[in-house]
Amino acid sequence: MIGGAMLSLAAFSPGHPIPVYKNKNAPVETRVADLLSRMTLKEKILQLNQYTLGNNNNVNNVEMKLNEMDPRIGSYIYFNDDPVFRNSVQKRAMENSRLGIPILFGADVIHGFRTIYPIPLAVACSWNPDLSGEACRIAAKEARLSGVDWTFSPMIDIGRDPRWGRVAEGYGEDPYANAVFGAAAVKAYQGKRLSDPYSVLACLKHYVGYGVSEGGRDYRYTDISPQALWETYLVPYQAGIEAGAATVMSAFNDISGIPATANHYTLTDILKNRWQHQGFVVADWRAVEQLISQGVARDKQEATQKALMAGVDMDMLDNLYLENLEQLIKEKKVPLSRVDDAVKRILRVKFMLGLFDRPYAEVLPEKERYLNSQSRETSARLAAESMVLLKNKEGILPLSVSRKKIALIGPLAKDSLDLMGSWSSHGSETDVESIVEGMVKEFNGKGTIKYARGCDFEGNDQSGFNEAVQIAGKSDVVVICLGEKKTWSGENASRSTIALPQIQRDLLAKLKSTGKPVVLVLSNGRPLELAEVEPNVEAILEAWQPGTSGGDAIAGILSGRINPSGKLAITFPLTTGQIPVYYNMRQSARPYREMGNYQDLTVNPQYWFGYGLSYTTFSYGKVSLSAPEISRNQHLTASITVSNTGGRAGKEAVLWYISDRAASISRPLKELKHFEKRAIAPGEKQIFRFEIDPLRDLSFPDSNGKRLLEAGEYELHVGDQTVTFKLK
Ligand code: GLC
Repeated sequence: MIGGAMLSLAAFSPGHPIPVYKNKNAPVETRVADLLSRMTLKEKILQLNQYTLGNNNNVNNVEMKLNEMDPRIGSYIYFNDDPVFRNSVQKRAMENSRLGIPILFGADVIHGFRTIYPIPLAVACSWNPDLSGEACRIAAKEARLSGVDWTFSPMIDIGRDPRWGRVAEGYGEDPYANAVFGAAAVKAYQGKRLSDPYSVLACLKHYVGYGVSEGGRDYRYTDISPQALWETYLVPYQAGIEAGAATVMSAFNDISGIPATANHYTLTDILKNRWQHQGFVVADWRAVEQLISQGVARDKQEATQKALMAGVDMDMLDNLYLENLEQLIKEKKVPLSRVDDAVKRILRVKFMLGLFDRPYAEVLPEKERYLNSQSRETSARLAAESMVLLKNKEGILPLSVSRKKIALIGPLAKDSLDLMGSWSSHGSETDVESIVEGMVKEFNGKGTIKYARGCDFEGNDQSGFNEAVQIAGKSDVVVICLGEKKTWSGENASRSTIALPQIQRDLLAKLKSTGKPVVLVLSNGRPLELAEVEPNVEAILEAWQPGTSGGDAIAGILSGRINPSGKLAITFPLTTGQIPVYYNMRQSARPYREMGNYQDLTVNPQYWFGYGLSYTTFSYGKVSLSAPEISRNQHLTASITVSNTGGRAGKEAVLWYISDRAASISRPLKELKHFEKRAIAPGEKQIFRFEIDPLRDLSFPDSNGKRLLEAGEYELHVGDQTVTFKLK
């Protein structure tokens, strides 16, 4: 074998003195095998470790200090944006270590690196995965130019409890939406080839079921049945793997007794064996050591053994692999073959990324790296398309020229920092256009803007109310900007109520008493409870946390320059007490009347998934089917004509759902299976189609992930229509 191996290796290096693994013309697997055969056990184990490097500003993980920089380490989380410092560390790995294995530099580039685009929950409301991909591509380039080769993104945890702070980071409550946006992010980050100079490794996280955290509290137990695991939580991950994601991050949560980071079923049986994932799994921050507090490991040795044997290839931060693996191998508690498998996966990804052949980041002057006009323009477009018009009584929006005097009030009106939302990477508030700045620019020459803060985000200081009431009294319209701080969502940022703080609601009530029409602009990282607020305002624009170009997008919508086109990717509960409420729930045993709901609350939420208004009107024609019945190897084409019956151009996202009312395993009330968004000119008609593939769109998994496709009647829902068809 060795001879054979040597012969094949020699084939790629005829007469060359360099070892095969350094030959960029040799196949990746050949280079991996050659390098692995040269590594000592210590060198192998070092590849399985990740430390931090740079100024660690993650408030939840402050205890980590800069570790001794061993040039043979596998990876760093890179907290800086300086390619020169990063290259100096890489140079030591390439030149001061025996084998010169390059280091991977990862970072949380969740919705932009320096040019910050909207939080992912907002991006999902754009129903424009192509535009989202453009933004991810920009983020990848800014990251690479800063020395980052690997982003811990996309986060594709289904979010159905808005008390959970990390609902901001995923693509909402629907498995299919998370799958489509997650796959789009993977393809954009990784580009046509991983070795392209501005591609970065994607990382699907947090694998799996992290969003079911009990009570919306972070880091908590998650009780997930095998059925729910397959039909809901694994769906976006399978799509991400099929899109070619190079890495996966194991989650903090305990999955019904087996924590995600020690779960052989999810990490190896499913991810590596069934889905054939060839990349590697990195544990989340200290998640290996946390197996002890989760009650499945007596000590660090057992935690190490359980995580590695379950399928975690790289240990983030807690150093347990480095401290324990040699001894565990000696004691035959961990086979060397498993260590070799983990090392091969990491080396494979490094070769595919081109890191051996191009280990250093390109160094451009800072002003050429970030925030160029195209980046800002893309961020502005995505911000605008992700905003959702929730209310527009008597068409008060867009603000007509008759409403010249605008009172712009609220804690978010002049704020820039919080418009970026959580996980804002290297975004700087000085780059962000505030709502006041956007409005002054937008209404220059068309109206006057008078600003007052009115109140703080929270607390009970009403001393700013009078000034706010004063300017409101002299205005034609009040635009009040309320919502959340960026720190109120994201990691370890769960909240017991999703209502706006009382002080904000009191300010709104005070302004309402002036009798002026009120437009509410919300900037928040989760659905908010609006039951008390909604009756007091004429219009509501959900702006989310829009990032660098937030002020421009909000002002553009309020002035009418931009026609809002967002639709909710997550349901807005009526009150916190109504949680959980999401569109694809199971049918109640007694769906009639208000059975099975609260005595003291109506059954419907404030706004359902898929809801959003426009400044124009779209009318949906009658949906037609290519046949009333199909067999399982036939496709059914559904089509519908959508007309723009209003007076201005607009964009419409058409969402198609399927229901299966009688199956061997109960099905959700309805499931999103296809969507498409298009621009439609005034008076124009466009035909939208959904080609139903029974195996893809009508089948469902059982608790072992086996796809079941059952004959019977199905419902197709689009707009406010429902039609039925049969599968033979
Ligand atoms: C954090 C987060 C994870 C992030 C990682 C590195 O604790 O859970 O999303 O990628 O640590 O910062």
